[in-house]
Amino acid sequence: MVIEQHNDPLTRFRAQDLDAAMADARRKQGVVTPMFDVIAPRYDAFTRLFSFGMDAVWKRDLIEAVVSRSVGAHRALDVACGTGDLGFSLAAQVPSLHVVGVDPSAGMLALAAARATREHTERVTFHLGEFAALPADPASIDVLTAGYGFRNVPDLDAAVRECARVIKPGGTLGSLDFFLPPNAIWRALFLWYLRASGNIVGWWWHRTPAIYGYIARSIASFVTADEFTALLQQHGFTVVSTRRMLFGGTALHLAVRQGTS
Ligand SMILES: C[S@@+](CC[C@H](N)C(=O)[O-])C[C@H]1O[C@@H](n2cnc3c(N)ncnc32)[C@H](O)[C@@H]1O
Repeated sequence: MVIEQHNDPLTRFRAQDLDAAMADARRKQGVVTPMFDVIAPRYDAFTRLFSFGMDAVWKRDLIEAVVSRSVGAHRALDVACGTGDLGFSLAAQVPSLHVVGVDPSAGMLALAAARATREHTERVTFHLGEFAALPADPASIDVLTAGYGFRNVPDLDAAVRECARVIKPGGTLGSLDFFLPPNAIWRALFLWYLRASGNIVGWWWHRTPAIYGYIARSIASFVTADEFTALLQQHGFTVVSTRRMLFGGTALHLAVRQGTS
């Protein structure tokens, strides 16, 4: 199938069949990246609104959990960094830390870099990249955070394997994400709400419902919080805690890379 190339990310997104692309690991990133480029300018406002302020609380809890294990840490990656929320908080709370934010969306990274300039934050830098190939040597990273990151990848197993490659033995992984709720009735309600509200916002702001309808679709094809815990364990992490919120619709995982340095 030939997909016409356009520079405008909204045109690139609209040119594709979202459901078909999401079902095909080779095509998924090709819709995900333009979608995040489109929503980047309104991403922070949307997230606050859409989560009724819960996003800020969950991120604060994730950072608190990670910081408590990061005394004297030097190198951190914030993967799927978006506009940089987690990376900036981490650097502010751990003065010894240099954080590299990694994201494939140039639109998101431009906003993150502008924020770094505004806040005179030299210990946070940014790199255009993906979970599939992280910009770090094996066992070189003390702390890795990912906010709503893993759900977007074409190959979840490969993404967790790559995190295990770069994190030092004893290093920390902290993730916050949406998950498939285990209870079937709650799952149906949760996905219905996210799909309906996402479609409305997508139509309102971009005349393209699927732009925000993506959130429900990405959860529907994702794993449960417990399955993600098991995947971390399979890749050599000890899962210190799995905290479920919204009856398993979101969860915060804190894990430590096994082994000795
Ligand atoms: C929902 S945003 C989260 C941004 C930020 N971490 C936060 O919590 O506010 C998800 C981010 O994942 C990025 N992303 C998409 N595919 C990715 C991949 N394969 N590897 C890394 N990041 C990816 C997107 O570009 C987007 O910025």
